Amino acid sequence: MADSEFTNKVAIVTGAGNGIGYEICRALAARGASVLLNDLDPALAKEAAGKIVSAGGVCHAFPGDAGNPDFVEKMLVEAVTRYGAIDIAVANAGITTYGSFLEYTVEKFQSLIGLNLQGSFFLAQGAARRMKDQGTGGRILFMSSVTGHQSHPHLVPYGMTKAALRMLAKGLVGELSQYGITVNAISPGAVGTERTIGDDPDFKESWSGATPNGRIATPGDIADAVLFLASDKARHVTGQTLQVDGGWTCTSPVPNLKIPD
Ligand SMILES: NC(=O)c1ccc[n+]([C@@H]2O[C@H](COP(=O)([O-])OP(=O)(O)OC[C@H]3O[C@@H](n4cnc5c(N)ncnc54)[C@H](O)[C@@H]3O)[C@@H](O)[C@H]2O)c1
Repeated sequence: MADSEFTNKVAIVTGAGNGIGYEICRALAARGASVLLNDLDPALAKEAAGKIVSAGGVCHAFPGDAGNPDFVEKMLVEAVTRYGAIDIAVANAGITTYGSFLEYTVEKFQSLIGLNLQGSFFLAQGAARRMKDQGTGGRILFMSSVTGHQSHPHLVPYGMTKAALRMLAKGLVGELSQYGITVNAISPGAVGTERTIGDDPDFKESWSGATPNGRIATPGDIADAVLFLASDKARHVTGQTLQVDGGWTCTSPVPNLKIPD
């Protein structure tokens, strides 16, 4: 690989069979990292890791439910067994569940919390324990969202989980800084992914009009922010949330959206 910025670094990225997570894996592997790529869908995970390996990267698929703490622990064991350490943990997996507050069900709520919060929390905990023992610091990243900054129709419970991740990043600073571990979050605005464009053919047009710089993000826009926060260049940055949203949170207009069921 041409760029070796992350050579000898080991990364885990959850929910990475496509979309933002895949691009984060691809970008890290292209810069020398060894990457454990997780997705709930085994075929998707295998295909995604295969593409990265074909391009010359070091990447292994580890499919399973990133919301399940027992599975998360197995994933961490696999990373350390296979690659010798864990240096970068990106809690990217998250479900976007739409629904009005008055109609929201317990089942929907629990699956949302189970992945977005429980999965992210225990990935961070398990990774931090290893990073502390390794004694070489580390990088933990949470995937928040602009919906965790501003109110967004039909996404209130989702936005609540994303706001909580920002607070988790802040809160962990007090416990993990002494070990050289930084903890940050990224808040993407509207990003064009297989899911967002697939769910709503007007997604790109609607959100481009509502975004001050006139376009939606690419997964690469988000991966670039991850590359910075995961790198040595961000060694003095911790407890922060980086909004990668083309300026959306400065004005926050919400377009008329086709709300998936
Ligand atoms: N796409 C956006 O516009 C946008 C905006 C703000 C924040 N985000 C956040 O960024 C992250 C990635 O978004 P995306 O749109 O690329 O994701 P996505 O919805 O396309 O999902 C990516 C992958 O996650 C996998 N996945 C789902 N449940 C899983 C589970 N329990 N365990 C492991 N993998 C699972 C899916 O199979 C899928 O391949 C999410 O946390 C999302 O909330 C996305």
